[in-house]
Amino acid sequence: MTSSDMNYLTIALPKGKLFAPAAGLLAQAGYTAAGLKEDSRKLVLVNEESKTKFIITKTSDLPTYVEYGAADIGIIGKDVLLEENKDVYELLDLKFGLCRMMMAVPAGLRREKLTDYTHMRVATKYPHTAEQFFYSAGMQMEIIKLNGSIELAPIVGLAEVIVDLVETGRTLKENNLVEIAQIHSSTARFIANRVSYKMKFARINALVERLKTLIESEKLQ
Ligand code: PRP
Repeated sequence: MTSSDMNYLTIALPKGKLFAPAAGLLAQAGYTAAGLKEDSRKLVLVNEESKTKFIITKTSDLPTYVEYGAADIGIIGKDVLLEENKDVYELLDLKFGLCRMMMAVPAGLRREKLTDYTHMRVATKYPHTAEQFFYSAGMQMEIIKLNGSIELAPIVGLAEVIVDLVETGRTLKENNLVEIAQIHSSTARFIANRVSYKMKFARINALVERLKTLIESEKLQ
């Protein structure tokens, strides 16, 4: 970490559904920068006054930026933390972005028991999560890694089963898929690089405390 890095707090925000609530919460806590928008083509935004830098990352890459100290802190879903398994501190459950990781199949393929799906193909953006789940259920499956629109895979015969995030359930419903098993549930988490947490403890801890207060006050409303 260089001395100029020591003057700034670098915050990683993920593109996608968590961006707006994460940026909104940080703004409430007094952390923002001019031009900070999800669709910004600029990937680093600096607020010189508050000595804060924001970086905007692809969702699944965010824990890597924090693990290596390219960002001091970040906001990311628990689903991504479980999948990526990076060495970062998870400091706070921010309580927004609630969704669940589900195994789902086309309605016509529904079976009686979980193990009746053994040896089927599973399409997912979360190969490690899926692998672990089926391994602990004692099921051998073929995992096919995709990067999005997972619900398409069973419709066109690429896979029989999917493992994916469900928020409102609308995407499953509109594609005639049914939930079979919940793997875990997820919310947004505040994470920190291990070294940054020690070196910039006062600043990071003050932000954590501020966020805690904001989350608590939101709960009461
Ligand atoms: C996520 C997820 C589901 C959908 C679930 O995809 O992978 O496809 O949202 O939301 P719902 O239950 O409210 O319908 P996302 O929109 O992030 O895009 P992707 O499919 O390209 O990954």
